[in-house]
Amino acid sequence: MSKITAAITAVGAYVPDFVLSNQVLETMVDTNDEWITTRTGIKERRLLKEENKGTSYLAIKAAEDLISKRKLNPEEIDMVIVATATPDMPVAATAVYVASQIGAINAFAYDLQAACSSFLYGMSTASSYIESGRYKKVLLIGADKMSSIIDYEDRATCIIFGDGGGAALFEPNTEGLGFQDEILRSDGIGREFLKIDAGGSILPANEETVKNKQHFVQQDGKTVFKYAVSNMADVSEQIMKRNNLTNEDVSWLVAHQANKRIIDATARRMNLDDSKVLMNIQRYGNTTSATLPLLLSDFEKQFKKGDNIVFAAFGGGFTWGSIYLKWAYDTK
Ligand code: UT7
Repeated sequence: MSKITAAITAVGAYVPDFVLSNQVLETMVDTNDEWITTRTGIKERRLLKEENKGTSYLAIKAAEDLISKRKLNPEEIDMVIVATATPDMPVAATAVYVASQIGAINAFAYDLQAACSSFLYGMSTASSYIESGRYKKVLLIGADKMSSIIDYEDRATCIIFGDGGGAALFEPNTEGLGFQDEILRSDGIGREFLKIDAGGSILPANEETVKNKQHFVQQDGKTVFKYAVSNMADVSEQIMKRNNLTNEDVSWLVAHQANKRIIDATARRMNLDDSKVLMNIQRYGNTTSATLPLLLSDFEKQFKKGDNIVFAAFGGGFTWGSIYLKWAYDTK
C-alpha cells in the first residue's frame, strides 16, 4: 500500500465588512499613512464590529465558505481544530462551539494557541492525525478577533492588527502530495516582548488591571521584528536545503503577514522572485492565526496540483517555523 500523506483538499475564508483604513487611524492616534505603509505594508484592516460576536463567528463563516465550495457533508468531518489567540471565552473551547454550529456533529474539537504560529502548528497537528490513518477529514480553522485585545489608543499595536478567519480541510493522499516536511521551533524568551499581562493565572482580572490597560496586547515591536526576521528566514532556508529545493523549485512562499519587511527579508534569503511571494497584508493587516489560510483562499485559483509551497510563520511566545507542502488540486 502506498504511503498516506496529508493533503489540503479545500480552503475557505471570511473577513468582516468594516474597513479601518490608515486615513481613519490618522484621526485616532499620532500616525500617518506614509509611516504605516513604508514600515509595515498595511493600508487597511477589517474589524468585526457586530456586538456579541467573537472569534467563533469568523471561524464559522470561514468553515461555511469551505463547506459550500467543496459541497462537503459536515457530518463526515472527524475533527475540528480552531487555531486562535482570541478564543470566545477563556474556558469552553471555541472549536467545540464552532463544530456544533457548522453541523460537524461527529467530530471532536479543541483549540490550539501559539500566537501568530497557531495555524502553522495546527497544520502539523492536522497532518499528523491524517498520516497516522486515524482520521480521514480534519478541518483546521485559523481565526482571530484581534480587535478584542487591541488598545486603539496605542499606535504601536493598533495600526498592525485586524480580524479574520480562514479554513483548510486535510485529507489522506496516496500520490505523495500534501505535507512533506516541517521545522517548528519555540523560545520562551519571547513572552517578555509580546504579551497580554493580565487575565491569565498569574494576574487575574481586577479593577487595577482594567484601569492599567493590562488586558490589551503589548509589543516591543523592534525586538520582535529582529527575532522574526532572522528566525523566519533561517527555518525557510533550512527547509529548502533539507529537501533539496532550489529557488526555481519553490512555487510559492505563504508567509505570516505581520510586516512586509519581514516577508521580504525571508524571500530574499530564499532567493525567491517577487512573483512567488504571496501578500495580502495591505488589505487585512496582521490577522494572527488567519494570515496563512487567508492567503490560501485569496490565491487558491493560482495554485496548480504539484506546486511546491513553503509556509513560514513567526509569533509571540516566541513560536516559529516552516512547513513544506505540495499542493494537491487544480481549481476549476
Ligand atoms: O505577528 C507577530 C509578530 N509581530 C511582528 O512580527 C511585529 C514585528 N515588529 C514590527 O513589525 C515593527 O517593529 C513595527 C511595525 C511594530 C514598528 O516598526 P519599526 O520600524 O520597528 O519602528 P520603531 O518601533 O523602531 O519606531 C521608529 C520610529 C520611532 O520614532 P523615533 O524614535 O525614531 O523618533 C517611533 O516612535 O517610528 C515611531 N513610531 C511611529 N510613528 C508613526 C512608532 N509607531 C509609530 C506609528 N506611527 N504607528
